[in-house]
Amino acid sequence: MTHAADTPRPTRFAPSPPLLGTIAAPGDKSISHRAIILAGLAIGTSRISGLLDSGDVAATIGAMRAMGARIEQDGDDWVVQGVGVGGLMQPASALDMGNSGTSARLLMGLVASHAISATFIGDASLSRRPMARVAGPLADMGAAIDVAPGTRLPLSVRGIAPAIPLAYRLPIASAQVKSALLLAGLNTPGATRVIEPVATRDHSERMLAAFGADIAVETDGDGVRTIILTGRRDLSPCDLTVPGDISSAAFPIVAALLVPESRVTVTGVGINPRRAGLLRVLGEMGGDIVLANQRDVGGEPVADITASHSALHGTDIAADLASDMIDEFPILFVAASMAHGHTVARGLGELRHKEADRLGAMAAALAACGASARIDGDDMIIDGSGGAPLPGGATIAANHDHRIAMSMAVAGLVSRDGVTIDDMASVATSFPSFVPLIERLQAGA
Ligand code: S3P
Repeated sequence: MTHAADTPRPTRFAPSPPLLGTIAAPGDKSISHRAIILAGLAIGTSRISGLLDSGDVAATIGAMRAMGARIEQDGDDWVVQGVGVGGLMQPASALDMGNSGTSARLLMGLVASHAISATFIGDASLSRRPMARVAGPLADMGAAIDVAPGTRLPLSVRGIAPAIPLAYRLPIASAQVKSALLLAGLNTPGATRVIEPVATRDHSERMLAAFGADIAVETDGDGVRTIILTGRRDLSPCDLTVPGDISSAAFPIVAALLVPESRVTVTGVGINPRRAGLLRVLGEMGGDIVLANQRDVGGEPVADITASHSALHGTDIAADLASDMIDEFPILFVAASMAHGHTVARGLGELRHKEADRLGAMAAALAACGASARIDGDDMIIDGSGGAPLPGGATIAANHDHRIAMSMAVAGLVSRDGVTIDDMASVATSFPSFVPLIERLQAGA
């Protein structure tokens, strides 16, 4: 597994020749976490192919091993022997979540309904991110959360078995909170209900069903989803393939739209509608994006995506689209910076709570590169360059945020003077092969 190095890795991204060729998307990060966790809870042996080999997924693997799951690499596959629902063991030391908010929040849920306690630690970025959104409902289920005021890592969760089943209406649109509660529900007697006024990525629901959990989803006339999970049922092992990550594919796709004369195909990309908002928005902006070979992989819709250089125009992105592309706003902002006209992206308060404050950091980074980007409340407003390269010439602080680093790297490819990223090490959390793949496309692979 690849881990982020400690020494800063400054990298300059120069104006790029056309990007041409075909690459495979790396495994989906969200789905990889869920595959390791559910396989680690099943009774028997699961085989996972296409798992993302990255720092964030390594954190989940390390924690599940520390709680008793046997997880081994076998060629390109991973083989997992689970402990059974209710069978997690007391970890001997603190669980290091590294940079991974998904690992921290999902595993806090898992521990909450087992008779074990675990201390969660993380890097500086993760230790600034809010955990009350998970800790609150888990405490209502009976878990004891030991944490300093402010509810950030480090914190300890003392689980309880049996926990109390909860009916919880999500106050914020968060797949991590939803998934934490469903995972807590697995070892809780009775029905745990999570009510989602705004639909978020449904990978947990799909995968829980595939592992044989007792799960049902009801949607009312207003689109409000209620997920009902009846706990204390065994999970059966699964052989599954992780689809490619649209959140990673987004970078070469947008780069191809922006760098003149480019045409790039990314194969095997997950296009779950709750993840693919970026493709819809880029299409509305005039992006030439073609989906081919649509199929099902691991219970998820997948396609090969071809993006060709396009003249983009500005757009207005409504707040209710935010959760369908929550991780793609940094790269969308780069695309909007080069479009013709005005782009407004609304209702982005949650971006302040990602690996960095992505609203503030991206507005500053784009401004440093000569783009016109400003924040109004929770909205981002960008006046595009009309297709002209951004001046660039700046060194950007990625703030240890992989998606800021990759977004501003793409900005460098379409700049006049290049853009330097202060440290590219963070890309190891989600897309370790980002730089070599861009270089391959520049060489016309
Ligand atoms: C994720 C959910 C999203 C997303 C994150 C991964 C998941 O976070 O930003 O990268 O795997 O469930 P929130 O739940 O905070 O929206």
